[in-house]
Amino acid sequence: MDRRQLIYRGACAGASLSLPLARLRAEAIKKTGLAEVYKDYFKLGTAISTKTLSGENPSMLPLIAREFNAITAENAMKWSSIHPSHDRWNWGLCDKFVNFGRVNSMLMVGHTLVWHKQTPSSLFIDRGKLISPKKLYKRLGNHISTVVDRYKAYIAVWDVVNEAFDEKVGWRKSSWYDVLGPNFLSKSFEIAREADPTAHLIYNDFKLENKKKQVFAIQQIKRLQKKGVRVDGIGLQCHVELDSGKPSIEQLEETIINFYNEGLQVHITELDVDVLPNAWTYRDQHINDLSEKADKLNPYKDGLPKKVGILLAERYEELFRLFIKHRDKIPRVSLWGTSDDETWKNYRPVVGRTNYPLLFNSKQQPKRAYFALHKLATDS
Ligand code: GLA
Repeated sequence: MDRRQLIYRGACAGASLSLPLARLRAEAIKKTGLAEVYKDYFKLGTAISTKTLSGENPSMLPLIAREFNAITAENAMKWSSIHPSHDRWNWGLCDKFVNFGRVNSMLMVGHTLVWHKQTPSSLFIDRGKLISPKKLYKRLGNHISTVVDRYKAYIAVWDVVNEAFDEKVGWRKSSWYDVLGPNFLSKSFEIAREADPTAHLIYNDFKLENKKKQVFAIQQIKRLQKKGVRVDGIGLQCHVELDSGKPSIEQLEETIINFYNEGLQVHITELDVDVLPNAWTYRDQHINDLSEKADKLNPYKDGLPKKVGILLAERYEELFRLFIKHRDKIPRVSLWGTSDDETWKNYRPVVGRTNYPLLFNSKQQPKRAYFALHKLATDS
């Protein structure tokens, strides 16, 4: 894709790791932001939380403006937030998001038009019964065209559909799929394209390095392309683990190449590195209710040990080395948040843990991983 397309439209266009952290931080004051050092490789983005957009975290926006040049709203643009019922629209936080991006000449990503989560259940009900396909298409059309049309002067990239596939069964069983079948995917892209023919439209999902899911996703995107429905990019969420096998760099590399070979630009859309033990078996439970397992599942509640901070920096470094290598295929790498206090990982899958998946700590100070990436870009 033409990189200029990825710039906000209408805007003016536009240490070594062994040193103690305190010294690295002091040095950092003099340094340029991370996006600046990556500017010849790709856009570097982050997600902005609803808390930040609501003004409850005033120091966060200046930090984001200094370090990043692409933004996604973490939750504010999801269906339940922006359009909680048929005749209600909440534009306030999204307008703030767009205004911040505009003032700072950032690439803005609209996230997300269609998803099975954070979507009002009333959408699928009509007069007490499951809605008919015809009526649901009407609601879908109205939502997508209203949102895209409102922001088309500013938002250049849309995550049109999020997580329509499942690694085990192909199509994810969702209300969208139950009522509309597979065509909700192509229809969503068609409506978004019509609302803004010049937008860059993405299909976004997690664990696309899973071979079965990847093959299925490619098949479905090809099916769309054959019908003349263009998909411009694939969004690899990249919620990865600290363990360098989950996923491995080789798996990720193959995934990037495979999607690119299908004619898609590859966006890294929601990058973070989970440093805690896998706890999906205890999904939605509170850590305080997991008494005997609590210490094991939440081992760093009093702080991130130095050795884990070093492993985190190494994991980020290997990932960014890969992204730099494939920069011709990757227009953007976005982290899923800026500082550890705001990460979704503190409440998913288990509520109340203390995770450290991002580049800034909960005091909004850069971590060792930040310095590793800074150094990698300047040395590469
Ligand atoms: C998915 C979604 C994101 C976010 C995360 C964490 O990855 O795409 O918007 O909600 O889940 O909850």
